[in-house]
Amino acid sequence: MPWYRVPQCDALAANGRVTAEIGGREILVCRIDAGLVAVANRCTHSAWPLSSEPIEGNEIVCTLHGARFDLRDGCPTAGPASRPLATYPVEFRDGELYVSL
Ligand code: FES
Repeated sequence: MPWYRVPQCDALAANGRVTAEIGGREILVCRIDAGLVAVANRCTHSAWPLSSEPIEGNEIVCTLHGARFDLRDGCPTAGPASRPLATYPVEFRDGELYVSL
C-alpha cells in the first residue's frame, strides 16, 4: 500500500485532528488516548462528516443520529451504524505525517 503525505499536519498539533482528501478519499487523522489514528471521515450510517464531531476517549461520536465508533479499529460501539469505519496506517516520518491507503 503506498504512503501519502498528509498536508497541513500543523492542524494536528493545534487541534488534535486534521482532515485531508487523499487518493480520492476523505481521511481523518486524530490523536487519541491510544495514539495517532487515521479513519475514513464519513460515518458509515449516512455519510455524515466526522471531522468536527466530538471525541471521547478512544471513540468518536456521530451526532447526527448518535452512532459511536472505536477509533482504534473503526468498529461501531453504538448504533445506528453497523459497519466499521475504514482505518489506515499512519505515522510521522521526518517531521511529516503520512497515511497508507
Ligand atoms: S450519519 Fe452518523 S449516525 Fe447517522
